[in-house]
Amino acid sequence: MKAEINPWGTEDVKDYEKLAKEFGIKPFEPLLKRIKEPHLLMRRGLVFGHRDFGKTLDSVKRKGSYAMMTGLMPSGKFHLGHKILAEQIIYHQQVLGGKIFLCVADIEAYNLRLNRMEELRKTAVEEYLLNYIALGLKPKNCDFYFQSERSKDPDQANAFYKLAGMAARKTTFNEMRAIYGEISPGKVMSVMIQVADILHPMLPEFGGFKHVVVPVGMDQDPHMRLTRDIASRFDREYKFPSLPSSTYHRFIKGLKGGKMSSSDPFSYVALTDDPKGIRNKIMKYAFSGGRETIAEHRKKGGIPEVDVSYQYLYSQFEPDDRKIRTIHDDYISGKLLTGELKQILIEKLEKFLTDHQRKREEAKKQVDKFLK
Ligand code: TRP
Repeated sequence: MKAEINPWGTEDVKDYEKLAKEFGIKPFEPLLKRIKEPHLLMRRGLVFGHRDFGKTLDSVKRKGSYAMMTGLMPSGKFHLGHKILAEQIIYHQQVLGGKIFLCVADIEAYNLRLNRMEELRKTAVEEYLLNYIALGLKPKNCDFYFQSERSKDPDQANAFYKLAGMAARKTTFNEMRAIYGEISPGKVMSVMIQVADILHPMLPEFGGFKHVVVPVGMDQDPHMRLTRDIASRFDREYKFPSLPSSTYHRFIKGLKGGKMSSSDPFSYVALTDDPKGIRNKIMKYAFSGGRETIAEHRKKGGIPEVDVSYQYLYSQFEPDDRKIRTIHDDYISGKLLTGELKQILIEKLEKFLTDHQRKREEAKKQVDKFLK
């Protein structure tokens, strides 16, 4: 059996809207008017869907009553695709005032044979955590943990692993197969721990009553569906105040137009890429929506929807709505050439990477505050 969305797959999502509809994910756009300062990714439709995010917005109003929970796979270089999630986490912490629960999915990564445990831990800290801090994540109101080591507090650790263990009774092999397609013992274990990741912020040992929201990529929706079902089946053992909500973002295109993949350095811009080499990388690899010749480009104009440089500006590097509109219109009309468009991105990237890498050095001093 083949599941339509596979959290462990390598395929690119083609038609987000169709998939969302099929699985009951609601469009994000109608909620925008309820958010005072929506994040750029929300405003521009990169966060495109949700389950019950209205409930999150209700709880944002009641201070201290919600948590944002999400996890990361320590799978390699931290790149622009990962930055999208980091920004949302920081937005929940700094703008909406949520308590942050951030987990390193080392049990999951280990079971999927991504690496040795020590390597995974090193990647999690040196790639992910350092970049999160440099992007603005603060230690206050942030509970950062590893799936393999939930807490030094024994009551908390017991409560977490007990929940993971008990969750298994609330699903069946058939259900898991229907959701995930092919499964293995390692996947079953990872899924049960992920269910605990998502639900445990609501337990008394972790501060008790609160609503949980999980920002994720579309490929993680199978976990959300299963977790919500399991939570609703715990009617006696656990009483959760609400089902966890979720929001879904589109993936950022890889440089060459396909998927951004940690295993191919020319498919991404890493946040540790040398700013001096970025010009060459963009010039050489960034997929262009421009035409074959200048004459043809002037006549027919470029195609921003497929142009990777435009997409990076739109999603992350040109926050000014007027400016991005002008770039878009000039590209479509043929006034702006591909080389000129790339030039705009290159300048933004050079500056961003230089600043970011300085902050990343400073972040090293703060790491210990997150690894209590
Ligand atoms: N499975 C997620 C991934 O592949 C990582 C993860 C682990 C996670 N626990 C989580 C995501 C809890 C959201 C919530 O990236």
